[in-house]
Amino acid sequence: MSRAYAITAEAIAAERARVDDDLDRVDLASVIALDELELAEVTPTDVKIRILVVSAEHNIAHAALADTVNIADMRGGKIYPGNSAVGEVVEVGRDVKRFKLGDIVVTHCNGAPDLEGYPLRIWAYDQPGSVGWYAEEAVVGDWQLVHAPLDCGLNLWEIAALPLRAPTAYHLWRRAEGIFRLKVPQERRGTMNVLAFGGGVSELFLMLAKHRGHNAYFCSGSAPRRAALEKQGIVGINQKQFNRFAERSDVKAFNKEVKSITGGESMHIVCDMLRGPVFPAGIAAAARHGVNISAGWQLSTVISYNSAGASTKQLTLDHTHYETLAGIEAATSLYGSVFKPTIHDEIYSFEDLPRAMVEMQANQQSGIPIIRVANDMPESVAALIP
Ligand SMILES: NC(=O)c1ccc[n+]([C@@H]2O[C@H](COP(=O)([O-])OP(=O)(O)OC[C@H]3O[C@@H](n4cnc5c(N)ncnc54)[C@H](OP(=O)(O)O)[C@@H]3O)[C@@H](O)[C@H]2O)c1
Repeated sequence: MSRAYAITAEAIAAERARVDDDLDRVDLASVIALDELELAEVTPTDVKIRILVVSAEHNIAHAALADTVNIADMRGGKIYPGNSAVGEVVEVGRDVKRFKLGDIVVTHCNGAPDLEGYPLRIWAYDQPGSVGWYAEEAVVGDWQLVHAPLDCGLNLWEIAALPLRAPTAYHLWRRAEGIFRLKVPQERRGTMNVLAFGGGVSELFLMLAKHRGHNAYFCSGSAPRRAALEKQGIVGINQKQFNRFAERSDVKAFNKEVKSITGGESMHIVCDMLRGPVFPAGIAAAARHGVNISAGWQLSTVISYNSAGASTKQLTLDHTHYETLAGIEAATSLYGSVFKPTIHDEIYSFEDLPRAMVEMQANQQSGIPIIRVANDMPESVAALIP
């Protein structure tokens, strides 16, 4: 048996009834509850891991709110969430060659690669039968693990911030760059202006843009997060100065600011991630031939835009989901050299995981939220614990 967090359709229904379906009042902590789980047997290609540390991810909030789909209900009434973790290998199936006892690994959440390697479904979300990693132990297929780059220069909490967010950012970047380059080749414009809004994924996206020599701009309401990125040469723009784009006049003022800081050029690539009021601001800030890309819909799942305007500006909208297995390996190789995540001040205990989710949803954290699951850590990571 392993202690593991669960989300049940019953708990969602009870909380929804309590708040009259007002999603802003849902208490995530009353929906995400500690449970016990009997682990699956280790088959010849499986690996059993002891979970050391995890990061809080928004898809758990989506599952608990049932705001996109009611995934707990669709999966028979209960899911075990958590699709980003660092673990220690404690058992390997007899055919497993890539891992041995004691290895430190990170997980990825590509639950079922399609013919081109992209996820049809996400692990611990809509992949049938998948059991997540907000647990003390887990049994996973060896294909779901990547060796943790322990010597990359990041500490253990920073490494734990990346298994889901870094492949997402990596994929967003290679898609946006590829699309822009189809329209405007390197020899016509070497340096791009790249803008991203809020959040951990966007921060990593901008680190990649900066690393590749482009001008990077981070539009966020969080002063500590902007300050952390400014240390890496990424220019901060205070989103609250534009009232989080509540009115058209705010979008206009933002557009004026963007033009002024880019010498009238505007942004060649915009990473949105939030949609809602952020979307029109990103569209307004786009340069001719620009690309607007997103893998998230935190503020709204629906967008609308003027197709004629987008055509005449040669603007491309792209929607991404998550990386291929090869892309995940490539993203992991950039830990520390490119990806240097900002971590929230408090490292939460396993028992405090629901509170971490509540505080993430309330946008109260100064960086990516990390939850320490194991109290006793293996010797191999002892030096990586700050
Ligand atoms: N497709 C995928 O594989 C994938 C992977 C990871 C994440 N995602 C999605 O991407 C989104 C962002 O994820 P993340 O991990 O980057 O999140 P995160 O680190 O928690 O950041 C979320 C950001 O949203 C901003 N925000 C919150 N409320 C806002 C509001 N009312 N108006 C404007 N901005 C607001 C905050 O930025 P400020 O600094 O401005 O306050 C906050 O930093 C989520 O929807 C998540 O589900 C998708």
